[in-house]
Amino acid sequence: MKIVICSDAAQTRRLAAQVLAQQVRSKPNSVLGLATGRTMEAIYAQLAEKAQNEALDFSDVTTFNLDEYIGLAANHPQSYRYYMQEHLFGLINISAENTHVPDGTAEDVKAEARSYENRIAQAGGIDLQLLGLGENGHIGFNEPLSALNSRTHVVTLAQATLRQNAGMFNNDMEQVPTRALTMGTGTILDAREALLVVTDAKKAEIIARVIEGPVSALVPGSALQLHPHCLVLLDAAAASRL
Ligand code: GLP
Repeated sequence: MKIVICSDAAQTRRLAAQVLAQQVRSKPNSVLGLATGRTMEAIYAQLAEKAQNEALDFSDVTTFNLDEYIGLAANHPQSYRYYMQEHLFGLINISAENTHVPDGTAEDVKAEARSYENRIAQAGGIDLQLLGLGENGHIGFNEPLSALNSRTHVVTLAQATLRQNAGMFNNDMEQVPTRALTMGTGTILDAREALLVVTDAKKAEIIARVIEGPVSALVPGSALQLHPHCLVLLDAAAASRL
């Protein structure tokens, strides 16, 4: 793991957007793995700004998102497909057929998981996977105790995740879907490069376990220690327990 500690969250996000932009510039037909969550919003805003001001071309880029809630359609404001459209896809020149988010409304979600995994393979695998970190150490929606070699699969979300994400559902845990489709930890580890971005003091303890603790299914993010090319961008607050 290569760790970079930035002075504040704004600088961390700026650097993350630069890494993504550099990837697209150096390989215009890149396959990007994308993430959602509050941390990513400003990163995508900066990337979209770069696309406009620096003529960054996404026309040959393909994307695969990490995860999606089961039961939420693309037009549901809390679905990750909707999030991506709002925060990135609608702001850059990417073609809709090149953007992939697991279909949380698929009749057979297990078949959708298998097909998603096949689509990633057919695209030639992921060049750069962007990742955030759940407060319980999850990456994508791979919750504590999920297998470290898993592929795209259906998960039941941990109570801690339902609580963490309730903010996006009017603070009503009843509204948060309890299941999701997620790339597996094994799928994530197969990306040629990984970029983990973590900000805020509330994640200081868990990121210390991800980086310095043992590799353990109790902390799914710790599997990134096994990745040969993983860059971790932190702000000073998140890095305070290292
Ligand atoms: C969700 C996503 C994760 C993301 C996490 C962190 O649970 N499934 O991929 O890393 O949120 O979100 P935030 O950046 O809002 O803390």
